[in-house]
Amino acid sequence: MDNHDTLFEDVLKSANIVDVLSSYINVTKKGRNYVALCPFHDDRNPSLMISSEKQIYKCFVCGAGGNAITFVRDFEKISIGEAVQKVASIIGFTDERLKSYREERPIDSRLIPLYKCLTDLTEYYQYCLTTEEGQIATEYLNKRKISSAIQKTYKIGYALQNGEATVMFLQQRGHSIKTIERVGILGGSIEHPTDRNRGRLIFPITNIDGQVIGFSARRLNDKSAEAKYVNSPETEIFHKSEVLYNIDKAKDSARHDGYIYVLEGFMDIFALVEAGIKSTVALMGTFLTSEHLKILRNLNVEIRICLDGDEPGQAAMLKISETLSQNQYKYRIVNNDGDTRDPDDIYQASGVNGLKTYLNNLLSGVDFAFNYYSNHSQLDKGTEREKLAQKMLPIIAKAPSELLAEDYLKKLSHLTGFPLRSLSKEYRRYKNKNANDPQVAVNDFHPERPLMQRLQLAEHEILMQMLQSPEAVNFYQKEIGYFYHDIYRNIANFLIDYFQNHETIDIANLITELELSSISGKENLTNQITELSFEKKPPYSLEHLQECQKIITEEKNQISAEDELQKKLIGKTDIERAMILNEYYKTHKRPRKKG
Ligand code: CTP
Ligand code: MN
Repeated sequence: MDNHDTLFEDVLKSANIVDVLSSYINVTKKGRNYVALCPFHDDRNPSLMISSEKQIYKCFVCGAGGNAITFVRDFEKISIGEAVQKVASIIGFTDERLKSYREERPIDSRLIPLYKCLTDLTEYYQYCLTTEEGQIATEYLNKRKISSAIQKTYKIGYALQNGEATVMFLQQRGHSIKTIERVGILGGSIEHPTDRNRGRLIFPITNIDGQVIGFSARRLNDKSAEAKYVNSPETEIFHKSEVLYNIDKAKDSARHDGYIYVLEGFMDIFALVEAGIKSTVALMGTFLTSEHLKILRNLNVEIRICLDGDEPGQAAMLKISETLSQNQYKYRIVNNDGDTRDPDDIYQASGVNGLKTYLNNLLSGVDFAFNYYSNHSQLDKGTEREKLAQKMLPIIAKAPSELLAEDYLKKLSHLTGFPLRSLSKEYRRYKNKNANDPQVAVNDFHPERPLMQRLQLAEHEILMQMLQSPEAVNFYQKEIGYFYHDIYRNIANFLIDYFQNHETIDIANLITELELSSISGKENLTNQITELSFEKKPPYSLEHLQECQKIITEEKNQISAEDELQKKLIGKTDIERAMILNEYYKTHKRPRKKG
């Protein structure tokens, strides 16, 4: 074993998989194991199972499995070497050997100049805020009560009116005009390039790792007819549909708090942060994209939607509520109670306490829809009452429990005046329609293995023993030779190698070695090994191995006899075939149906 293998082994030994995974996802104890929403597929029920005893995890829906190191590797999409570094830093493991393992994050090297340029530009804008011309921007920030702490944390800046100077500054810093163009700030003509953000207040926008990827530039004069915000255009690194403003700063605290507020604008973020609420992100508008959803799903916390109280904000929340409920997110909606202001307005008018009271008034999606549709209906008209009922029934049909649904139906009956009985009948119709929708329900954490054939079952039994004892591995080498089932055979071969260097078996460690090896299809093997490891371990028993061996021999014989039979049947007439088969059945079992 070389140096790296032992380093990996040592890190793994010191790491508790539950601690490592908990720093990425919410992990809850369930019986002897732990469970979590699987971050490797769009999980709705916790289907990732974590064993602290074996130090491995396994998702019984998508099949992903491995140890603490492979988890970090796959979660962060980094190399296995970086993952070891990461795990070591999470658990506070220090070692000289780690230093020799330093690798750069494998970002596309063509993008490095862009990030560098954006970093310099951010610094420049911050500097410009302190200049004489920048005074108007500082005054504006003061007027809006944006503290200097916030200004610093969020790297707020100002772009001088002289946009050519910005471009020149970047060129002096060694950035080519091509790079400056690629970061998306160029305005003007090719001969006279200028900064399209000039004269505006600058809010750098960061990705989930905290790197600046673009800017949003606000006009300072609200009387002017210019657009309120100028955002970076789509570039190689700025994709607006993926941006959740403040996600880099909110992700850890959200996992800690168990919730995240989703707001419209960054001014609102600053208000919440001033009020001590760190777990908050902004959509930079009212549109929640599927990219946003994926990021939020990975946080695995309650989503608290709080868009502006105005009509577009409320209409957008209704739509978002529908999406979240359809995809079974845990969420609630801040009740604006007719208040049309945004969180920042409320903070400015009513301070920390006023804002906190506002944010704590949370409604379920169904209650929000009730409020919304009731406010938008004139319930003294019969047609409007029916419309309200027709809007609400499908929403109620998605309620998480029958008890809640009943409550909602009563409320609907009260609001519309329709008898509860007729509403319930309609409700059933929707409910049945939902039941026919394809849905993945995984409440049971054990794999629903299709009935294994006799041969595979016997091979499986032997492999289970091999996964815990070198004696079983010996038995396999001497008595079995090879498994018919491809993955089992590859695992068996790997185990033979493994026991040449180890006396006992440690599954988590075995997985690292497998991942470091050059075996093809190792991801499959890791997934299969973790799956087997979650099954009940049979004690080592030579007798049982021999029974399985007998079955394997019988089954292998039958398979070759069947193959022979098939060959004999080729080109024969019906009568000849009948005779051959008759002869065959005298000494053999009926052939199994072939697919
Ligand atoms: N937005 C945008 N372009 C616009 C208007 C808005 O990109 N022309 C985005 C911004 O990210 C903004 C968010 O949508 O933060 C919400 O818009 P709005 O409520 O109008 O702005 P506020 O954040 O409330 O900003 P302010 O309080 O300064 O008006
Ligand atoms: Mn505002």
